[in-house]
Amino acid sequence: MGELSVLAGRSIVLGVSGGIAAYKSVELLRLLSSQDARVRVAMTKNAARFVGPVLFEALSGQPVYMDMWRENHEIRHIDWAREADLVILAPATANLVGKMACGLADDALSTLLLAVTAPILVCPSMNTHMFENPRVQDNLKRLSDTGLHVMAPGSGFLACGDTGPGRLPDPADIADRAAALLCEKDLSGLKVLVTAGPTREPLDPVRFLSNPSSGKMGFALARAAEHRGAEVVLVSGPVQLADPLGVKVVRVTTAREMADAVFAEAKDADMVLKAAAVSDFRPKTCAAHKEKKNKADTNLRLARNPDILKELGKEKSDKVLVGFAAETRKLAAYASSKLEEKNLDMIVANLVGEAGSGFGSDTNKVSVFYRDGYSEDLDLMTKDQVAHAVLDRAARYLPQAE
Ligand code: C5P
Repeated sequence: MGELSVLAGRSIVLGVSGGIAAYKSVELLRLLSSQDARVRVAMTKNAARFVGPVLFEALSGQPVYMDMWRENHEIRHIDWAREADLVILAPATANLVGKMACGLADDALSTLLLAVTAPILVCPSMNTHMFENPRVQDNLKRLSDTGLHVMAPGSGFLACGDTGPGRLPDPADIADRAAALLCEKDLSGLKVLVTAGPTREPLDPVRFLSNPSSGKMGFALARAAEHRGAEVVLVSGPVQLADPLGVKVVRVTTAREMADAVFAEAKDADMVLKAAAVSDFRPKTCAAHKEKKNKADTNLRLARNPDILKELGKEKSDKVLVGFAAETRKLAAYASSKLEEKNLDMIVANLVGEAGSGFGSDTNKVSVFYRDGYSEDLDLMTKDQVAHAVLDRAARYLPQAE
């Protein structure tokens, strides 16, 4: 049983106007198509000076809409607007923003935009001084005030040589906001707490005990819960991943720091998903200075770390508790005993070392064990898809679902 991505089968119009960042909309198109969205490109004639329509046609497999006067009996601006589940304007130039703010329709894209009733995601991209110009700011505000979704531009060195805000948001972030806009908000009003990544337990100032957890599963859970409307707090050990948009991220290093952050945030959480690979032990002492290798051998004394999830299980009440277990053998036996010992609703387990699964991978193949003794094996999926599948199942344990 495979899970579909939120974007799968959704009809998206990608509106491209004439900014230097038009080349990045090619990457955006690729990202959306890779999640099985049906993307059609409407572009301005100035955009075609930067990127030719042939490239968009080849990548989308659909005709590009640029010229209103070359249509054969179709009223494309109305048809495309009617069929769209979402419109993304990337890049949205100052001119396009201004035209939309005034309700002008003098070419294919701007005319189509007036007929759209689906959500419109506006991704501004322009020179910093243009972006900061009060007239452009007024226009952007007017778009927000009338229900359009305006993304903040990125900041940095721009192609024109200036530095500051005005850069097209990262295509991955635009695709993320697209998924958020199209996602059903079944977790709105709920607080979801997620943990991710490894912990590091210091031996001395330069060495630590840890594990190879990448944090990808926990970050995918946090993103998915945010897309579904939850207030999300992500407590993460050291990982190389950027903060998911719209999520409060608390970065920690050791298991004890993770415990403190989790206990503080768990009080009013409705659901806790503990995807972190917490170190069960820490060195009993941490040397003040770097240990030298002059001894032939040495003993390492370890102390137990708090079992964060087990502590939460002791005061569970109607909080939904979901554990994760990475095992190298006896998956069902170990997962079921952890489920019971920690008083969980569900535990998501995977065998480390299976192809496409576990630490660092973008995909995962998991089995889910439930508190009533039932279990199911899910197909190999991307971690984003696993995240939604896990949330679907965890949501059944929410008090309001019973
Ligand atoms: O390490 P173990 O297999 O027991 O992990 C199962 C679950 O318990 C995971 O969800 C993990 O995040 C959690 N855990 C924890 N604190 C620990 C060890 C594990 O919260 N010290």
